[in-house]
Amino acid sequence: MKTHLVFTNPAAIETEVLAVVAGDAQTAKGPDAKPDLALLTGDAGVKAAAAAVLASGEFKGGANETLLIHAPAGLAAKRLLLVGVGKLGKANAHSVRSAAGTAIRFVKPRGIRDVTFVLPEAAELAPGPCARATVEGALLADYDPDTYRSDRKDQSVSTFTVAAHAGHPADDVERGFAEGRIIAESQNFARELVNEPGNKLTPTILGQRAAAMAAANGLKAEVYSTEKLHELKMGAFWSVSQGSEEPPALIVLTYEPEGYDAKTYSGPVLGLVGKGITFDTGGISIKPADKMELMKYDMAGSAAMLGAMAAIGRLKPAVKVISVVCSAENMPDGKAQKPGDVQTAMPFKDGEPGHTIEIINTDAEGRLVLADGLTYARQLGCTHLIDAATLTGACVVALGPVNAGGFSNDEETYGKFHAALEISGEKVWRLPLGDEYMEQIKSDIADIKNTGGRWGGAITAAEFLHVFADETPWIHLDIAGMAWYEDTKPYIAKGPSGFGVRSILEWVRSYAK
Ligand code: BES
Ligand code: MN
Ligand code: ZN
Repeated sequence: MKTHLVFTNPAAIETEVLAVVAGDAQTAKGPDAKPDLALLTGDAGVKAAAAAVLASGEFKGGANETLLIHAPAGLAAKRLLLVGVGKLGKANAHSVRSAAGTAIRFVKPRGIRDVTFVLPEAAELAPGPCARATVEGALLADYDPDTYRSDRKDQSVSTFTVAAHAGHPADDVERGFAEGRIIAESQNFARELVNEPGNKLTPTILGQRAAAMAAANGLKAEVYSTEKLHELKMGAFWSVSQGSEEPPALIVLTYEPEGYDAKTYSGPVLGLVGKGITFDTGGISIKPADKMELMKYDMAGSAAMLGAMAAIGRLKPAVKVISVVCSAENMPDGKAQKPGDVQTAMPFKDGEPGHTIEIINTDAEGRLVLADGLTYARQLGCTHLIDAATLTGACVVALGPVNAGGFSNDEETYGKFHAALEISGEKVWRLPLGDEYMEQIKSDIADIKNTGGRWGGAITAAEFLHVFADETPWIHLDIAGMAWYEDTKPYIAKGPSGFGVRSILEWVRSYAK
């Protein structure tokens, strides 16, 4: 999809579809309060073309509601598409992202290949963030997980034009427009990885894809396997991969800001750690067959980190970032680890003992690979850590497919992440940590065990990771319920979501300010 930015009167633009945002300006409540529809453009021609249908009451301006008018009188466009953003008092850049996405997903199955989206004019909608959200929404909506469908190739919308108003601040709009493209492409890169089935994306191939992405975006890449795991004494990570014919991959990507000098750099070093289980059968504690095919997305945490790194390489924030991705396939096998086995995690300092872990359930494998990933990131000098993982079904039970779970041992670090969510529009709900929960993962025969029983499963998993993050400021994101959309939404395809890319990126950028 090609994207263009123009500062032209919408009525004069020749296009297949001119999409215009409309909202409900009604502030009164109650049964008699009829919608007071407002088009978010000052263009008199567009207003005239939409006047009759707005007066008809057929279109209510609800969020992502659509109405198409053919041969609109007085416009150069062939069609006028109204897209709702709901109550104007509540509308923000995130509503505009969805509206742009809705416009694309409306035209895509109808064979229309050219859309112009009028950048909203409204006092409460900042033009820069809206331009960014518009491009993000369009590119995210244009993506379909159809790589392996021979009947659905080349269905993309070919041109998407953002029509800004001459009164919009050009610098802000241009920057937002350019950033939106980079960010959405990075999120779509993550979605492509998440969509890949286990036979097409092994840990080795994930390493190759990460290295190719790094080369294209100016990042340093190191991809290691079994030997390095043994050398670093990553006993927890290795224990997951030992039951698979596929070797593990330890992927380390480094971004150094412009003018970086290791001797003089005194800023933060951010560590982005991702769970990269390319397929999770559960291992010897095997999962039931129903829906097991979805466990190809158990590498979505690592995809989120790789997507964020792709954007970081292109947006070049002034902060050092290291990403550590721990990738393995969790399989049952003659060599697989067994319940009751004791593993020794990577020691933080050479010569020190690593934490010992009693394996209660081989399906609680994500925390095992992340344990060593977090330790390694700390050893590499990371001053702040963030991890993302499809870690627990318990998190999905707690928060549903609406919010990811967020955890942190440091208020300031989480505060920055909370602010990043405002920009990204992604939803994360913070859940607690606490020593009481640690009691649940104490083992009789080792330091800790890898499951904490029935209650608070997302939290005991987070507390397990906390042992390895230790006192380094750290955020853990449990994205099990967010990595794969089970339902179609008007603005995005069902399937791989690329959740986390935008928020992790904004969190990183907040350290460069
Ligand atoms: N990958 C799963 C978690 C998961 C579940 C992700 C559903 C996405 C959707 C993880 O490795 C797992 O199996 N967790 C277990 C932990 C349990 C054994 C303590 C779970 O949640 O059941
Ligand atoms: Mn599992
Ligand atoms: Zn898993």
